[in-house]
Amino acid sequence: MIDYEKKGFYNSHTLFTNDFSNISNSNNKHIYSQIMFGNMHSPMMDYLLNLNRQNLNDFKSILFFNETNLASQINEAKIAEEILNSETIILKKAAKKIKPNFSTVVENRHSSRNFVKEELDQLTFSTILKYSFGLSNRKLIYGDIVATTRHYSSGGGLYPVDIYIYSNNVSGLTKGLYKYQPYSHSIYPINLEDMNENAFFIGDSIDVGNMNFCVFFEYSINKNYIKYGELSLLNSLVEIGGISHNFDLVCASLNYTSCPIAGFNKIEIEKHLSLDGVNDHIVFTNVCGKEY
Ligand SMILES: Cc1cc2nc3c(=O)[nH]c(=O)nc-3n(C[C@H](O)[C@H](O)[C@H](O)COP(=O)(O)O)c2cc1C
Repeated sequence: MIDYEKKGFYNSHTLFTNDFSNISNSNNKHIYSQIMFGNMHSPMMDYLLNLNRQNLNDFKSILFFNETNLASQINEAKIAEEILNSETIILKKAAKKIKPNFSTVVENRHSSRNFVKEELDQLTFSTILKYSFGLSNRKLIYGDIVATTRHYSSGGGLYPVDIYIYSNNVSGLTKGLYKYQPYSHSIYPINLEDMNENAFFIGDSIDVGNMNFCVFFEYSINKNYIKYGELSLLNSLVEIGGISHNFDLVCASLNYTSCPIAGFNKIEIEKHLSLDGVNDHIVFTNVCGKEY
């Protein structure tokens, strides 16, 4: 146990108590001090204390990937993950340009949780998806391997995050869950059965009834663990932060608003998507609508 007291980690907001058996009136202040005393276990603390401790096997895997350019080969095959059949909805060609200048977009971006009931047209929907989650025009050429890139950065170029959309009020789309397919710029229906969208988020601060759509970010461990080992989760969460912020900016540039949401109901959403919750996890969400 690290001697945090001597290291000066405590601050004036921390309530100390040695009575760690009194759990009936515990709150995060109590829990925090018990974690610091080593009386209580925190998986988050374990994770932070071990962060970036790299083992020999991590170096072996990372070097193996870098030297063999395996990520580019995986990248080239990724197109085969997409389903193209009569159910696939190929989205309209996205707008070539987004007009507002970048500083205006950054100034305008803000979170909003209340929306007006207004249908989102297909072209705007397609443009939001393309610039937030889609492929960019830039290609990386390594001899006879051609790797694609996206509008966001990705640890090792492995793209371990998949995007699911719940369409609530988008022109021409049945309400329900779809998977975004970046190579064909299409969406594929996953579950169009009636479901209680109010159960997606915890509490009632998000106006799900009037949103246009929401986004579920899925991380699949197998997509980057084989390279990064225990560093994979950190990489993926950082990557999702980047993607989600990209989405916020694109929505703002098209006069829509968004709200990143950590208060989501993981098990409920994974159930509707038929994800196993073992290898495949919903780890973050976002929502888009016309601000009220
Ligand atoms: C990681 C993260 C998690 C968030 N989770 C929630 C949430 O669960 N519910 C919510 O209403 N807003 C959530 N937000 C939005 C923040 O409340 C919002 O970004 C913050 O108040 C700053 O306001 P602004 O985005 O308008 O600048 C989250 C934002 C981030 C970056």
